[in-house]
Amino acid sequence: MTVAVAPSRRYFKMSWERAPLLKGKTIVVTGSASGIGLETARVCTAMGAKVLGIDLTKRFDHVEEFYRADLSDGATIDALIDVLPKGIDGIANIAGLPPTAPADKVLAVNLFGLKHLTLGLLPKLNDGASIVNLASLAGFGWPDAIPAIRASETVHVDDAARFASDHQITNAGGRSYFFSKEALIAWTMQNRWTWRDRGIRMNTVSPGPVDTPILGDFLETLGARAEEDARIMDRPGTPQDLAPIVAFLLSDMTTWIRGTNIPADGGMSSNILCDMHGLSS
Ligand SMILES: NC(=O)c1ccc[n+]([C@@H]2O[C@H](COP(=O)([O-])OP(=O)(O)OC[C@H]3O[C@@H](n4cnc5c(N)ncnc54)[C@H](O)[C@@H]3O)[C@@H](O)[C@H]2O)c1
Repeated sequence: MTVAVAPSRRYFKMSWERAPLLKGKTIVVTGSASGIGLETARVCTAMGAKVLGIDLTKRFDHVEEFYRADLSDGATIDALIDVLPKGIDGIANIAGLPPTAPADKVLAVNLFGLKHLTLGLLPKLNDGASIVNLASLAGFGWPDAIPAIRASETVHVDDAARFASDHQITNAGGRSYFFSKEALIAWTMQNRWTWRDRGIRMNTVSPGPVDTPILGDFLETLGARAEEDARIMDRPGTPQDLAPIVAFLLSDMTTWIRGTNIPADGGMSSNILCDMHGLSS
């Protein structure tokens, strides 16, 4: 007779210290003061990494070094690139603003500033480094935004306001936020092989709604659309759902995952795809 034993609660209380996947690695985590970034700093530290945290808000939890910086400002990002040490093994680009912030700031932090920091840090990355960008389910519609995405490719972080005005990207319906994530997914795909000779790879993780301080801002902006999501979903995600995925992508277990967008959304993107392609019953 076989007896099925349900895993104990302790089984689910993972001790990341027992999974030192990032031992000896130096990882930069932006947005390390709150939500998904804070939890990512915690998990990476527990997995053995030395975490260099960056945020506008001062908070030193789970980081070995903390750098206070405004990632919407070109000169500040340049200064940050100068002071960060060499020998970086990973960047988790997690800092982000919701669509209740001014549209140019949303674009600057979520897209242009992220790119500026990442490209500026390339000379300080070790060969084999991994870059993980926090995108969103909100970026799902990127194929419908190709002209604006192409136009955004070479925009400097300090020109975010002009770009927003030229392309009429406002906060109406959360468009600034949606566009920032669409363009981020596209940029990551486009750079699937750019640094392949150095073994450097870049991927995005796209969460659905996650219970962090900015969830309320999304609900406020998206209104009925967010209510429909909440009706379909069993629960919103938590930072604890996301951080281990980011840490896994930063580890050496994922060297052949390149330029990919990984949805982590409780099944929401599959639900949209099934609806789109006639696979829902
Ligand atoms: N919460 C969600 O529902 C959700 C869903 C999908 C994607 N995301 C993405 O996840 C990432 C993390 O968001 P979160 O939910 O943990 O939110 P959060 O507000 O808890 O954390 C965001 C962090 O970014 C920092 N930040 C904002 N502007 C900054 C700036 N100019 N310079 C430096 N740091 C700045 C904030 O201070 C904060 O610590 C964001 O990129 C967000 O777009 C969130």
